[in-house]
Amino acid sequence: MEAIIQSNYAAMSKIAAQIVAELLNTKPNAVLGMATGSTPLGLYQELVRLHTREQLDFSRVTTFNLDEYVGLNANHPQSYHHFMHEHFFQHVNIPPHNINIPSGTTSNYPAFCDWYEKRIVECGGIDLQILGIGTDGHIGFNEPTSSLSSRTRLKTLSKQTIDDNARFFDRRADVPVYAITMGVGTILEARKLLLVASGNGKAKAIAQTVEGPVTSMVTASALQLHRDAVVIVDEAAASQLTMRDYYDFIYAAKPAAPRGA
Ligand code: GLP
Repeated sequence: MEAIIQSNYAAMSKIAAQIVAELLNTKPNAVLGMATGSTPLGLYQELVRLHTREQLDFSRVTTFNLDEYVGLNANHPQSYHHFMHEHFFQHVNIPPHNINIPSGTTSNYPAFCDWYEKRIVECGGIDLQILGIGTDGHIGFNEPTSSLSSRTRLKTLSKQTIDDNARFFDRRADVPVYAITMGVGTILEARKLLLVASGNGKAKAIAQTVEGPVTSMVTASALQLHRDAVVIVDEAAASQLTMRDYYDFIYAAKPAAPRGA
């Protein structure tokens, strides 16, 4: 795993966007795995800027989102469908039929989950999966104790995640209890993983992810099993990493490493 520490959120987002842009420049028909949450917003803004100012082309790109709340329709302001259109899809030129987001309103979740897995395979697999991280160390909505070989499925959210996400809803009771999420096994099949995290609230989860044991109690720690996983964090999120100087040394010595703002 590669850990890249940047001085602030803007620099972190810029480096992450450069990694995505490099992929699109070498593979214009890449399959991107998308994440929601506040953390990737800066990365999406930078990709939109590269699209509008530097002609970064998404016309042949296909996307698969990690997850969606169960029970929220696509127009609900807190649905991940709405989030993605609002913050990214409406600003770039991805053909709408190339956009895949789990359905939060299907009548048959097991069948939908099987279809989603097959659709990823039919599209050639995910080239690069963008990830955020929950304060409990989850990726997607793979809560603690999720199997590290899990596939796309319905998942019950943890109390911690419901508390964390209550800020987006009028009342805590409005936060959905279930979500549909790609599994850890699904995520690990992407050819490259790019996890972004910012702020003190993520420092413990990041230390556990990068330096802790691989455990289903911190599903992001499964990134240690992947041969091409990059974790990009700001200073605050890096604050509990014990090998921090080593990561800086590696990055500084890396030829042609992307540089932040
Ligand atoms: C949700 C999403 C995750 C995301 C997490 C953190 O739980 N399912 O994919 O990583 O929120 O969100 P934020 O970036 O807002 O802290």
